[in-house]
Amino acid sequence: MADPTPQLRMGFTRFDRLASPQPALGYSLRTFRPGDEEDWLALLRTEPQWAWDRARLDWMLNGGRGVMPPNGIFFATCDDRPVAAACTFLYPDATPPAGELGWVITHPDHRRCGLALQVCRAVLGYIRDQGYTYAFLKTEDFRVPAIKMYLQIGFEPEMVHSSHPAWWAALYQSLAKGAHAPDAPHQ
Ligand SMILES: CC(C)(COP(=O)(O)OP(=O)(O)OC[C@H]1O[C@@H](n2cnc3c(N)ncnc32)[C@H](O)[C@@H]1OP(=O)(O)O)[C@@H](O)C(=O)NCCC(=O)NCCS
Repeated sequence: MADPTPQLRMGFTRFDRLASPQPALGYSLRTFRPGDEEDWLALLRTEPQWAWDRARLDWMLNGGRGVMPPNGIFFATCDDRPVAAACTFLYPDATPPAGELGWVITHPDHRRCGLALQVCRAVLGYIRDQGYTYAFLKTEDFRVPAIKMYLQIGFEPEMVHSSHPAWWAALYQSLAKGAHAPDAPHQ
């Protein structure tokens, strides 16, 4: 089996073209509230590649990975329970100062309803509203559905490993027939 491509990184600067999040029909969009932790954990655990427990979530919420404002954690909800999520980490001392989009997930029963798109747009809007002009994310080569969405939003590949140009060239080639254009300018 081929070695996995070293972690991919994508950057976002097109805040002037960022569409506002709109809750999908039948769902609501809101930020994190204390008490959401167990529902969020259950959602994160639907991804078999991730290992989550309460200690790790609390560590992250307490800033272990980066500044994590509760108002930068967005959920799409069904009956007020999170069914899709994305969160913000802020790195104000980085060059340039950066916001990171992290832990994007939609529950398998609620996929392809536009929920991840909405929570990602909400996170990017939050990062912009904090005064940042640059955001990034990290992902893996097998997450092509997510990568398609990030391209659709307006993220661009960043070549942070010598293997990345060839990987992205192959991806663009495979997407060539059905590729999405970035979000249209915000009306
Ligand atoms: C990737 C993931 C978050 C998408 O969630 P979702 O709510 O179903 O996504 P959306 O309905 O908002 O789709 C938005 C866009 O993403 C892309 N996309 C999403 N799922 C896709 C799939 N299965 N195949 C191809 N493209 C897909 C499409 O471009 C889609 O736009 P379209 O519906 O106009 O074609 C979800 O499949 C998931 O949770 N996967 C496991 C966790 C994961 O990989 N997270 C990303 C970590 S970096």
